[in-house]
Amino acid sequence: MEGLRTAAAIRDVNTRYHDVAAAGYDVKWGIDFGEVGQAQVIGKMRKLLGPDLHRGFARSLEVGAGTGYFTLNLLRAGVLREAVCTDISPGMLAACNANARRLALSVETTVADAETLPFADGNFDLVLGHAVLHHLPDPTRALSEFRRVLRPGGRIAFAGEPSRLGDRIAAVPKRGAGAAAPLWRRLIGARPVSGVNGGGDGAGGGGHDLEPFVDVHAFTAPELAGHARAAGLADVRVRGEELTANWFGWFNRGLEASADPDDVPMLWRRYAFHGYLLLQRVDERLLESRLPPAIFYNLLLTGRRG
Ligand SMILES: C[S@@+](CC[C@H](N)C(=O)[O-])C[C@H]1O[C@@H](n2cnc3c(N)ncnc32)[C@H](O)[C@@H]1O
Repeated sequence: MEGLRTAAAIRDVNTRYHDVAAAGYDVKWGIDFGEVGQAQVIGKMRKLLGPDLHRGFARSLEVGAGTGYFTLNLLRAGVLREAVCTDISPGMLAACNANARRLALSVETTVADAETLPFADGNFDLVLGHAVLHHLPDPTRALSEFRRVLRPGGRIAFAGEPSRLGDRIAAVPKRGAGAAAPLWRRLIGARPVSGVNGGGDGAGGGGHDLEPFVDVHAFTAPELAGHARAAGLADVRVRGEELTANWFGWFNRGLEASADPDDVPMLWRRYAFHGYLLLQRVDERLLESRLPPAIFYNLLLTGRRG
């Protein structure tokens, strides 16, 4: 798809889509700034940064920070001290500022395209991001910018990038949910969501016609590592995470998206949530060190400015 659209069109569609999505984003994706959210974010950063995580980072930059999921949780956990959040969507950064105010956290926010950052060279100890690289027209160019703004020895840490094979495998539970949704709704006594009769992916907050156009890439592990090496980063490593948790999550998300949200029982939501957390632990403890990164749904990328 990326070959068919210009970089400007990709940036434009991402800005407009995320500006609309911002208001309902945290609810749609279950973004949490309490204990659960913090544990999720710390878990991913530990996989990326190892012992460096506990030494902390004096000055960090998050690109595509959205409503602040990673940076605000890391500030709360004391991993980051001075934090800057950037995003191409002013609406997302407005939501990030509102979250920071509510949590009494101090964060600097700047609207910026990841490929042209308005910062001097060598400004940050850590450049991080979650679920952002796959939205960028030119990931190598963006990673070169991240390298430029890092001080020598500084780290990059990116999580939540869709793997190409993992993405294809996830289509199976998504399709399965579409087929099972009418029966599931009958069992729990839920009405179909208005305008949908069993399918969709829960585009609830700001789900509009731009959604299919915001994702540009799904990476293989060598491709993702290749972008980072081509950008001049050293010690590049890619690993995979979430396999069974993702199948379970996509299946349940597909079912839930087909029903009127008011009709989905709390007991079901608890089962879906705790089941997901349990399978995440199974993936982490049993599968992630044994299976190749390509088969997992999410890729994690780390590297260093030499
Ligand atoms: C899937 S959201 C993830 C948001 C946040 N990192 C999180 O995990 O909740 C992707 C974010 O990337 C931002 N984005 C998309 N294209 C961008 C670009 N070219 N430069 C900077 N940010 C971009 C979007 O506006 C959006 O906030």
